[in-house]
Amino acid sequence: MFAPFFLLFGVLAALLTTQASPLDKRASRTTPPAGAVQVKNPAASGQFSTIQAAVNSLPNDSSARTIFIFPGTYSEQVSITRVGPTTIFGSTTDTTSYTSNSVTITHSLSATAAGNDDLSGTLRVHKDNFSLYNVNVRNTGSQALALSSYGTNVGYYGSAFFGFQDTVLANQGASQTHRNQFFGVCYIEGAVDFIFGQHARAFFQRNVIASVAAGTITADGPTSATDASLFVINDSTITTSTAATASLTGQVFLGRPWTQWAKVAFTSCNLGALINSAGWEIWSTATPNTADVTFAEFGNTGAAGTRASFSEKLSSTAGFTAADVLGSTWTSWVDQAYV
Ligand SMILES: *[C@@H]1O[C@H](CO)[C@@H](O)[C@H](O)[C@H]1NC(C)=O
Ligand SMILES: *[C@@H]1O[C@H](CO)[C@@H](O)[C@H](O)[C@H]1NC(C)=O
Ligand SMILES: *[C@@H]1O[C@H](CO)[C@@H](O)[C@H](O)[C@H]1NC(C)=O
Repeated sequence: MFAPFFLLFGVLAALLTTQASPLDKRASRTTPPAGAVQVKNPAASGQFSTIQAAVNSLPNDSSARTIFIFPGTYSEQVSITRVGPTTIFGSTTDTTSYTSNSVTITHSLSATAAGNDDLSGTLRVHKDNFSLYNVNVRNTGSQALALSSYGTNVGYYGSAFFGFQDTVLANQGASQTHRNQFFGVCYIEGAVDFIFGQHARAFFQRNVIASVAAGTITADGPTSATDASLFVINDSTITTSTAATASLTGQVFLGRPWTQWAKVAFTSCNLGALINSAGWEIWSTATPNTADVTFAEFGNTGAAGTRASFSEKLSSTAGFTAADVLGSTWTSWVDQAYV
């Protein structure tokens, strides 16, 4: 009499435990949250067929607004400047990763044709308090940004950014000291300087960073010794893209200094065999820019070797944690499900 009861109880308890496990937080978001402006192509009544039209429909006030995008490929450039907190959700059957994303924004515009890097961005975020969830963003131009990120308290979650040179520009907000940016469980693909910027303090957590050709992953370029720009890439996988057409073994560097004050750390990352044993490289022979760089590593696994003399191995992560990079209030605006 008691045995089956306890057995049933045990099974139920096990099921509940499994559901609460952090390994099992897969969740889908395939219908619009209440109040969201909807994007679908073709659009039904009350929906917008382009993302920019949906963005333009939002009032430019301090209210919080949400956009939900139904599955599809949207061929357009999207620029967001409204003042209030804004969140964009792409439809997905698995919010915990970018691997099931069903929404892609794609455009082809090079920086030369656009006039500058920022103007080439397929997605241009020129505002604070912005979040993007589960959207793929692509620029098929040659030196061409998928994302141009100018804001503070901006977070990118379960999203994927595809380009070749200069894929992600993590830069600043309304001023150069207004620039905290978070990338959680994202995919970033490129070949040359494909995570770059001048003023951002950007933290990349549990990303996959994939090279498509030989080159350098990061190019940070603070404009003075007092510019505290810093990129930290933590607990991420550094690998070769499946789109690469040749072996990249030893042909990719973690960073090169756009200016002599570049500050970049890779912590607790898995470095694939594509990473050159020197780890880091000079900007150019004529302008090495290595005088004041902070190029640091802590707890990485994978590609080892004798590192460049201007880089360092840290003995702790002090100064490089999310709270150090983004400030003590970071948990108030970073979605902790992607930490
Ligand atoms: C919204 O207002 C801000 C601040 O005034 C301005 O910079 C931005 O261009 C405006 N955006 C739109 C879409 O009107
Ligand atoms: C928006 O961001 C600013 C920083 O620019 C911050 O002071 C403000 O509290 C944020 N507003 C909301 C509603 O999150
Ligand atoms: C990196 O992420 C792991 C969890 O994924 C965390 O335990 C560790 O403290 C993080 N390191 C830094 C420097 O933030």
